[in-house]
Formats: sequence, C-alpha cells, structure tokens
Amino acid sequence: MMATLAAPVASPEVAIAVIDPKSYAAWDPLLDLFDTIRAETPVLRIEAGDDSFEPFWLVTRYDDVMRISKDNAGFLNAPRPTVLTSRAGEALARAVTGGSPNLVSSLVSLDAPIHPKLRRLTQDWFMPKNLAKIEAEIRELAHQTVDRLVAAGEGGPGETKVVDFVKEVSAPYPLHVVMQILGVPEADEPRMLFLTQQMFGGQDEDLNKSGVANLPPEQLLQIVVGAVQDFERYFDGLAQSKREHPTEDVASLLANAALDGEPLNPRDLAGYYIILAAAGHDTTSASTAGAMLALSRDSAQFARVKADRSLLPGIVEEAIRWTTPVQHFMRMSAHDTEIAGVPIKAGDWLMINYVAANHDPAVFDDPRRFDAARSPNRHLAFGAGAHQCLGLHLARLEMRILFEALLDRLESVEPAGEAKRASSTFVGGLKTLPLRITPA
Ligand code: HEM
Repeated sequence: MMATLAAPVASPEVAIAVIDPKSYAAWDPLLDLFDTIRAETPVLRIEAGDDSFEPFWLVTRYDDVMRISKDNAGFLNAPRPTVLTSRAGEALARAVTGGSPNLVSSLVSLDAPIHPKLRRLTQDWFMPKNLAKIEAEIRELAHQTVDRLVAAGEGGPGETKVVDFVKEVSAPYPLHVVMQILGVPEADEPRMLFLTQQMFGGQDEDLNKSGVANLPPEQLLQIVVGAVQDFERYFDGLAQSKREHPTEDVASLLANAALDGEPLNPRDLAGYYIILAAAGHDTTSASTAGAMLALSRDSAQFARVKADRSLLPGIVEEAIRWTTPVQHFMRMSAHDTEIAGVPIKAGDWLMINYVAANHDPAVFDDPRRFDAARSPNRHLAFGAGAHQCLGLHLARLEMRILFEALLDRLESVEPAGEAKRASSTFVGGLKTLPLRITPA
C-alpha cells in the first residue's frame, strides 16, 4: 500500500487563484497555475482565506480525475454542490429548494438509484442511431449559420471582412440545435440564451444582467435563482403542450415519460429540460469558438484540414480537449480513502479539474498545442463513468457538420483583435472572437 502524505494546503494566493472566476478569463496563466499544482501537489487542499467557501481538494492529474469519475459509489454527486459554490450560495440553494445543495435538480446532481433510471429515459435518444434521424435538420442549421456568417460584417459577398465569430456562429448555432431537440420555437431562443448566460455566465460582468463586476454573492445568487425560476415556468408550459401534442422530440419524450410507473415530478422534469437546454449549448459553443481561434492562428493547419477532411473528427475531438469548456465538477468522498497518497475523509469535497487533467503532460504530448491529428486523444472533457456527458455524440455531430460547412465556405481565417474569455469557474470559453474571414 502507498504511504500517505501530510495533507498539502494551498497558500492563500493559490487558493484565491483557484476560486476566483477572473482567473479563468486568462487561459495561459491558468494553465501555468494548474501545471505547477499538478507537478508539486496533485491533490491540494483549498481553503478560502475569508472562509466564504467550504474547503475542498483540487485534483489535477488525469489518472486521479479518471479514477474518481469512474467510481460513482465512492465519489458521490448528490450530497454536496456538484459545482463550486460559496457557502452563501449553498445556503441560498438549500433555502430555495427545501434542502438540496443545488438550485436545479438534474442528472448531474443525483446518484444511484435514481440517476440511472432518469438517464435511461433519454439515453437511446442521444445515441448515434437516433441522432442520424436529425442529421439533415442539423446540416440545414449549419448551412444557414454559415450563410449568415459570410453575409455579416462590412463588405460585399466574397470580400474579406471582420466578424465576431461568437456572435455570428458559435453562440447561435448550438443554441438552435438544442432548442430544436427540445421543441422550443425560434422566437423564444433569445430568452433561453439569456437565461443560460445568467446561470452559467453569472460570474462574468459582460454576461450577467446587471453588468456589475464583483457582484456580492447574494446578488449573484439572486440572478441565478431568477434564471432558474424563469426556466422552470417556461418548461412547465412546454411540457403541458407536449402532453397535448406529442412529437418525436426529446421534450415530448420527457413530458410523457414514467419513472417507476409515475410521471416525472415537476422539479425533476424541469431539471431535465434545464440541463439539456443549458449544458447543451454553451459547452459546444465554447469548443467551436476555440477550434476557430486555434485554426485562425495557424494558417498551415487550416489549409491542411481544409484539404483533408479525414481530419474533421480530429479537429472536433481536439477542439473539445483543447478548450475543455466544462472546467470542473465536484464530488463528495463516500469513505475514508487516499488519492495520490493524500488521505481523504468521508464527506470531503473534491474538485475534479478537467482543464488540468486534459493538459496533463503524462498523457498528452505538448498539451497546449492544438493538433487536429492528435492520436490517441482520450481526453476527459466529457467526464467518465456513470455521469459521462449524455450529449457527447450530439456535440460531436453538430461540430463536425458545422466544420464541414465552414471549411467549404471559407478560404482563410485570421485573428482580427483580442479574443476574450468569460470569467467563470464552471463553464468557460470565449465570449468574443474577432476574425478576419475570406469567403471561398
Ligand atoms: C463540447 C460540448 C460538451 C462538453 C464539453 C460537455 C461536458 C460534460 C461534462 C464534463 C459532463 C459531466 C461528466 C461527468 O460528471 O463525468 C456532462 C454531463 C452532461 N451533459 Fe454534456 N457536454 C457537452 C455537450 C452536451 C450536449 C450537446 C448535451 C445535450 C444536449 C449535453 C448534456 C449533458 C447532460 C444531460 C449531462 C449529465 C449527464 C449525467 O449526469 O448523467 N452535453 N457534459
């Protein structure tokens, strides 16, 4: 058996850097931070100097993140918040929900035996065989999106122009796809986008409603609570109409689904819609924008993938690893155990850090390089184990189809200004990406 080590505790500066959403807006310094932590203290205790967060263990090595993800009985999702949340945030969630540490009850915040039952309801719908049925619709959306991109910006058709790729493509396209599968009419999409940004981008000054930086936790949480309530109201109405007029979409499936012979209760139903609506687009959007950033900086690689479409699945996979939009999830240890020789107690809270794991040099050569030909590329951006991303085939499909269209229609892309990342500890990625594009 491995000898256990004395628990390493982060310095106050490192603890702040890990907890502060602003650290996640600057990518290379963030990767530098995780590189140092992974090399020196792969399991590191983070204690907020002002006690605003419960202490937790930051896990940064690929192998340890994989082990925790796959051991769902040993590392639970439900009892503690599944996303890094302040004490004030957790207290508010418990007050709002009557005891749950998460505002939204969804697949990611549940454990067996309820979790696998809920997941089975839609698992087949998200498999490639079923998704093939909607491929033509997704292709249509991809073409419309790229049409809009080449028509955007100053200058006539065929001329080189400067566009914000996030605004024109990477934000709206995955949103359209996910709204289509949820049966949400196009007219309601802006509201859904706004709500998702409130929930996931609530820490970012450009993305939250008030536009105020450094919001106090109570105010931040009020924004998120408001977004959740708005989502719940909206999807309650949607479920009602899907019961009256069921279609083939996933919303109809859920509205009419039974769990142990009973219809889903309203909170679980709303949670299911919310996780699909929210998890399904900001993530794919971040990976799509990241791939374009990488290709715009590397014209030789752009030309290579444009000429050799067998590299398409590689671009998609590498985009997802390189960006790792879901930056972490949290787990609670069910037992006393050790990770990398560090003793962990039953009840301890752990951050499995996918960004750090996906840049672990023990697994990925030259991890900061974007390499569409990287092989193998067994990244952890979709997680692993029982909670592994339900939408991973959909995410890959929609990105592959979009890149097919982009590579057909663009002759070249170049950076045209500063690409800015969101300040967010949870789902991160670019919020603006100015590009100079030349249509083919
Ligand atoms: C590049 C895009 C995406 C990334 C990086 C991503 C990442 C993740 C991650 C890391 C998890 C947690 C895995 C774990 O705990 O082991 C997850 C769960 C989930 N994702 Fe995704 N996701 C993406 C796209 C999507 C899409 C398109 C959908 C559906 C529309 C989706 C729906 C879900 C759901 C429902 C879960 C919860 C699964 C469960 O707890 O059983 N995701 N995703």
